[in-house]
Amino acid sequence: MSTSRTALGLAPRGEASAGASRISPEDYQAFCRFLEESSGIVLGDSKQYLVSSRLGKVLQEEGFKEFSQLVGALTKGVNRRLRERVVDAMTTNETSWFRDNHPYQALKEHILPELASGRRTLRIWSAACSTGQEPYSIAITIHEFQQANPGRLAGWPQIVATDISTEVLMQAGKGIYDDLAMARGLTPERRRRYFRQVEEGWQVIPELRQRIQFRSLNLLESYGLLGRFDVIFCRNVLIYFSADSKRDILSRMVKSLNPGGYLIMGGSESISGLSDRLTMIRYGSGVLYRLGD
Ligand SMILES: C[S@@+](CC[C@H](N)C(=O)[O-])C[C@H]1O[C@@H](n2cnc3c(N)ncnc32)[C@H](O)[C@@H]1O
Repeated sequence: MSTSRTALGLAPRGEASAGASRISPEDYQAFCRFLEESSGIVLGDSKQYLVSSRLGKVLQEEGFKEFSQLVGALTKGVNRRLRERVVDAMTTNETSWFRDNHPYQALKEHILPELASGRRTLRIWSAACSTGQEPYSIAITIHEFQQANPGRLAGWPQIVATDISTEVLMQAGKGIYDDLAMARGLTPERRRRYFRQVEEGWQVIPELRQRIQFRSLNLLESYGLLGRFDVIFCRNVLIYFSADSKRDILSRMVKSLNPGGYLIMGGSESISGLSDRLTMIRYGSGVLYRLGD
């Protein structure tokens, strides 16, 4: 999957259609149940076309003639690799550099100055990092803060970036982007300073790449092994989930926050009615959520 198409949330080039007309209502329902149980993603009633276009290539390459055969194999549940491949294909990986701007402005102007007074190394989690633009934007923001405020932070914050999709994680780890992806949200100065031209495009400099730990994680599963964080970016992922899954994920994320820590959601997302332990703080054109001390 090329970075630019993934970054735009598009299906891979050259994929064949699974034939929307051949997806029976029963198979569609069974597929939606499988997808929600394994990833939290809720498709809604009439996304047969999306399923068809995203899974055409998988069907072809895995040797299934009919969509019903794929559904049968998925619901039997024995083929883990196939289940992962299908979930991977169904994720929407739309992302960009410094997406919406205000979270990064808030990090630089409000959160880092406030949290820098402690002696601990800060920990930041990008909880659905897609192809890496979000955690690298966080790393650039921290670097810029450190340049402007030498010695203020107790060491480099630890950045952990996770996603359910192994394909986007591989791209994120390489940190290589084509011109289209580079054109979405980077100033010329940041481009010059934090990227080097390589054969396949532009690569994030090693000094930033080595600051980020990329790991595979399904948000429906336990976060216990990740430890506690001072800031969690959970942006533009819970919009695909049911209210029950959102409530469950948010309550477990709150448990993963250190006292005084921040949760940052996507522009169109809110926690209203889902958690009463966080206080909303308006910042620029967006909001942040803070856990009490
Ligand atoms: C639209 S992208 C958002 C990327 C980034 N956070 C941003 O705001 O630009 C959503 C990401 O969530 C990931 N995702 C979907 N379901 C997930 C799950 N159950 N656990 C972890 N990540 C998931 C997808 O693979 C995708 O990369």
